[in-house]
Formats: sequence, structure tokens, C-alpha cells
Amino acid sequence: MAGDEVIFKKDKAVAYITINREKAYNALNRAVMEGLEEIFSELERDKEVMVVVITGAGQKAFVAGADIKEIKEAGDKRTELIKKGQEIFSKIRNSSKVVIAAVNGYALGGGCELAMACDIRIASENATFGLPETKLGLMPGYGGTQLLPRLIGIGMAKFMIFSGETLSAKNAYQFGLVEEVCSSENLMKEADNVSRKISANGPLAVKACKKAINTGTSLSLDDALKLELEIYDKISRSKDAEVGMMAFLEKRSLNFKGR
Ligand code: CAA
Repeated sequence: MAGDEVIFKKDKAVAYITINREKAYNALNRAVMEGLEEIFSELERDKEVMVVVITGAGQKAFVAGADIKEIKEAGDKRTELIKKGQEIFSKIRNSSKVVIAAVNGYALGGGCELAMACDIRIASENATFGLPETKLGLMPGYGGTQLLPRLIGIGMAKFMIFSGETLSAKNAYQFGLVEEVCSSENLMKEADNVSRKISANGPLAVKACKKAINTGTSLSLDDALKLELEIYDKISRSKDAEVGMMAFLEKRSLNFKGR
């Protein structure tokens, strides 16, 4: 699956993706983007994996952005290249798996956008977030102008995007761009802890919650509540729900079957 520039590993219900271009600060070139697309297509067919953790190789960068050399060379085909990237990030955002970004350094431009396409962001203390595209005379194209305001508010998003200023992990946490901050040494352990907690829960229930949140947040509240109830109806009739409630009442542990 995929080439050397994206490493994929699986350990039961948790899969790990490492973007592996350490010398180029894991910048997103075509090979990386194609690798991500292939992996996320395969994952939709994988019944065992519930959580996917994405990180960058080395200590310095999660991903320092789209590959600037490739964008420059794309010339007239630049928008086509970015459109394809946007589609791949949408595939990650809409994946039926829970996707966690383990941000281990620079998350700039396309790297920050990749982290925002994930469901949860856990950052090491040395992580730096930003959308510095305007410094290149460009603008974010993998969803940055739309996702950042949704996560941290319009004013702060405008401040960051217009100025190209970056946020430290601590400030990103305060603004709600990341959900947890930990030391570099503990980053993967913490991502693993969170992954194991999620994957111990009912798989159908977790998947349904992601769908309700992702779809519902772009609807009116009334429509979103209707959607919640429709999805709830299906989940509440599942075997997992039956077995889950019974195990609680009988004070015993259980393994969900995803049925
Ligand atoms: N594209 C291509 N190569 C990159 C890169 C990128 N986005 N970011 C870093 N690199 C490469 C550098 O060219 C350099 O390679 P060489 O050793 O071959 O010269 C190597 O990674 C290390 O980079 P630096 O020497 O610059 O390292 P530094 O520690 O001095 O600075 C940095 C680190 C602040 C991250 C700096 O590299 C930087 O500013 N990178 C660009 C960040 C950026 O502008 N990202 C947005 C890209 S556009 C985009 O993402 C568009 C979109 O929305 C779709």
C-alpha cells in the first residue's frame, strides 16, 4: 500500500500513517497526496480499523505545507493540483474512521489544513500552526479559509491568514485548534491512549457520532436535531447497544462486535 513517502502500519483497530519526507519537512508532494488517497480508500474497506493516527517523520515537522516547488512548477495546472488536494482532504474529513493528527512540529499551510481535516488534533509542545500562504502571494487551498474560522472563530482566523502569523501549541490549545498538548516524547503514546479509548467503544456508535457531527454542523439546528434522531434510531436498535447496556447493568466488561 502506497510508496516510501507515506508509511502505513496497522495494529488491530488502530492504524498509523507517517508522512515520510523528513528532509523536505514532510511537504505534501504528489506522491504523498496519492499515498494518502490510496490509504483512505483502502481504509473504507477495512472492517477492523476504527482510528487512524497521522504524524510526520522526524522531530521538526508534522507537515510544512504543500510542496512549494511542485505548486510553482504546476503553472496553469495549479488550481487543478489544489482541487485534487482539496478532494483528498475531504476524503480524510469524511472518512468513516476517526482520524487523529499527532502534530510533532511545524503544521503550516497544507500541513495545518491536513491537521484540520482530522477529527482530533494532539500536539507536542514544539508544534507550530499557521497558514502562511499570503507570504508567498498565495492563499490556502486545501480548506484553510473555511476550516480555520470554524475551529477558532472568524476574527482570529482572519488575523492568522492575513498576517501569516503562527500559533504555538499552547496558544493553539487556548484557541481550540488543538485538543491536547503534551511533550514530544509522549506524543505518540498520548495519541495511542486516545485511540485505544475510542476503539474500545461501540464502532457503529462512534461512526454514527462522527456522521451526526460532521453533517449536522452545516445544517440548521432544527434539521440537525432531526438528523441526530434519525441516526439515533438506527444505532439504538443495534446489537451493540443491546449488549452494551446489558453489560453495564450486569457490571461486566464487553467487546463490541460492530453489529
Ligand atoms: N515545500 C517544499 N519544501 C519545503 C517546504 C514546503 N512547503 N517547507 C520546507 N521545505 C524544505 C526546504 O526547502 C528545505 O529544503 P532544502 O534543505 O533542500 O533547502 C527543508 O525543507 C528545510 O527547510 P528550511 O531550511 O527552510 O528549514 P527552517 O528550519 O529554516 O524553516 C520552515 C522551517 C519555517 C517550516 C520553513 O521551511 C518554511 O517556511 N517552509 C514553508 C512553509 C509554507 O509556506 N507553507 C505553505 C506552503 S503553500 C501551501 O501549503 C498551499 C496550500 O494551502 C495548499
